[in-house]
Amino acid sequence: MTTFVDKPRHILVAVAWPYANSDIHQGNVTGSYLPADIYARFHRLVGNHVLMVSGSDSHGTPVTVKAEAEGKTPREVFDFYHGRFLELFQKLGLSYDLFTHTDTENHHRVSQDIFLTLLENGYLYRKVTAQMYSPKTSKFLPDRYVEGTCPVCGYDRARGDQCDNCNTLFESASELIDPHSKVDDSALELRETEHYYLDLAQLADDGIADWIADDKEHWRPQVINFARNLTLKEGLRGRAVTRDMDWGIPVPVEGWDDKVLYVWFEAVIGYLSASIEWSKNQDRPQDWKNWWYDLDARSYYFVGKDNIPFHAIIWPAELFGVRRLYEDDETNKLNLPYDVPANEFMNMEGRKISGSHNWGVWMLDALERYDPDPLRYYLTVNMPETRDSDWTWEGFVERNNGELVANWGNLVNRVLNMTRRYFDGQVPDPGLLNERDQTLLSAVDQGFDEIGRLYDACKFRAALQETLALATKVNQYLEETSPWLTVKSDPQTTARSLYTAIQAINGLKILFAPVLPFTCQGLHEMLGENGQLFGRPVIKEYKENTRDHVALTYDGSEAIGQWERTEIPVGRKLPKPSPLFRKLDPSVADEELARLGVD
Ligand code: MF3
Ligand code: ZN
Repeated sequence: MTTFVDKPRHILVAVAWPYANSDIHQGNVTGSYLPADIYARFHRLVGNHVLMVSGSDSHGTPVTVKAEAEGKTPREVFDFYHGRFLELFQKLGLSYDLFTHTDTENHHRVSQDIFLTLLENGYLYRKVTAQMYSPKTSKFLPDRYVEGTCPVCGYDRARGDQCDNCNTLFESASELIDPHSKVDDSALELRETEHYYLDLAQLADDGIADWIADDKEHWRPQVINFARNLTLKEGLRGRAVTRDMDWGIPVPVEGWDDKVLYVWFEAVIGYLSASIEWSKNQDRPQDWKNWWYDLDARSYYFVGKDNIPFHAIIWPAELFGVRRLYEDDETNKLNLPYDVPANEFMNMEGRKISGSHNWGVWMLDALERYDPDPLRYYLTVNMPETRDSDWTWEGFVERNNGELVANWGNLVNRVLNMTRRYFDGQVPDPGLLNERDQTLLSAVDQGFDEIGRLYDACKFRAALQETLALATKVNQYLEETSPWLTVKSDPQTTARSLYTAIQAINGLKILFAPVLPFTCQGLHEMLGENGQLFGRPVIKEYKENTRDHVALTYDGSEAIGQWERTEIPVGRKLPKPSPLFRKLDPSVADEELARLGVD
C-alpha cells in the first residue's frame, strides 16, 4: 500500500498527438511526452488507476503537404512516421497505455458521432464564405499556404494568415495582393464554399465561459491567463470545423462527400476515442467511462504552449456541447479537463529548434549514442515548465557527469561495492541504529510525502531536484560515517553505516523511478528485489474491419505499484553490481556540435 493516497483515483494522462509528418525532437519530448510519462509512472507507483493515451495525428495539411513534396500518398507518409514514433517511444520508455492514430475505424466513428451529437444539440451551424481556390489543382488552399504581397508594408512573401515582415494578421488571405500558391506558385482566385462552424458564442453563453472563469488555482498561471486573455480579446467566435480536402474523416452529412472534418476538431477527440479503443482491447468495453464520467476522476492534458487554445477552450467546448456519448444515464456528463499543464518551449544552443534547418536533437538518432535515462534526466532538469529553456550539449555532458554520475550513480556504486568488499555482498546486520542513521532514513521517508506532492502538482523539475538533494544527504552521511575507515577498527559501525545507506538508496530508487525508469529497475535488481517497478511498452497489431493497425501498448500486469521505502533484509546476498551511468567525455559536446555543422 501507499503512504500517499487513501482512495485510488482514475487519472487520465492525455498527451499531445504528434503530426505524423516529421521525426520527433527533444523539444517535443520535454514539452509534452516526457512530463506525461513521468506523471503516469508516478501515479501508477502511488496506486492510482492511470490511463495514458495518445496517437499519431495523421490528417491535415501538415501531412498532405509533406506527401506532395515527397511524391507519396498521405497514408504512406503517416504510416512511415507512425512506425518511427512507436520505435522511439518504446526505446525512450514512454509508457502509453495506448498510442494509436487518428486513421482507425474507431476514431473515425467516434469523431463522426461527436460531430452529429453537436449538430443535434444545436452547436453547429453552416456558413458560406469566400476562400482561396487553386484552379490549377482544383483545390481550396489553407491560408498559410497562400503567399502574396502585404498590403501594409509591400513585403512580397507575406503568408495568407500573417505578414512575417510587419506582423500584420490577416482576416483572410484575400487581403494579399497577387495571391498565389506557396506549393506550386500558381495563381489563386476567390471562390465560395460552405462549412460547418462550432458555435462557440452559444457554448460560451451556455456554460463554457463560466468554466474558463471558474477557480483554477491548481492551473499554471501562464496557461489559464493565456486562455482567458484569448477569450476576452477575441471573444468566442464560431470556428469552421470542416475543410475542403480529401484526406481526413468524411463529414457525416449527405451531400458533403468532398469535405472532411477539420484536423484539429477531430484530433482532440482522439483522447476519448483512444480511451474507448483501449477499453475494447482490454475486453472491458465500458471501462473508459471510469475516466470520462466518474466525478472523482481527473484528466491532465500534457501539451506545448502553442496547443493551449485547443485544450483549454475548444476541446472543453466540444465536450460540453456533446454532454454525453454512448451513455444512457442522463445525469452523466463528460468530464472537462482538470488541468492543462502546458509547457513553454525548449531552444537549442540559444536558437529555436527547427526541422527545416535541421536544428534539433532527433531523439531516435540520439538514442543510438546515449542511454534513455541520461536523456530523460537532462530533459527533466531543463523542462520548460515556467519559461523557455535551452538545450546545450555542454550542459548535457555536465549534468550527466556532475550530477547523475558523480552524485547518484557514484553513491550507488560506493555503497554496493563496499558491501561486496567488506561483507561478501551480504546486507550487514546493523545492530541498533543510532540517531544519525534514523534521521537519514526518516528524511528519505518524508521525501515520499514532499516529493510526491511535487510530482502530483506537475512540478517535475523541483521533484527531481529534491530527490537529488536527498542523494546528496546520503553522500554526506557516508562521508561522516566513513565506513571505509572503521572497517578494521570498528566493523559494527561500518555495518550500521552500510546497512543504513542500502536502505536509503532503496528508497531513493522509487523516488527517482518516474524520471529514470530503466536504471531504477536495474538498481532494484542489484538490491536483490524481484518484480518490475513498472510494466513494459509493447508494440501490438490490431485488426479492425477494414483497416489493420499497429499501436504501442503498456503491459502493467507485473508492476509492483509502491510509493514507500521497504526494507532490504539483513543477510540478503546481493548480486554483483554494475555502474548505473557512464561518464561522457567532454569531447562529446564538440562532436555533437560538429554533427550540427557548428565549429
Ligand atoms: N498534431 C498537433 C500538434 O502537434 C495537435 C496535437 S494535440 C491534439 O500540434 F490533440 F490536438 F491532437
Ligand atoms: Zn507586411
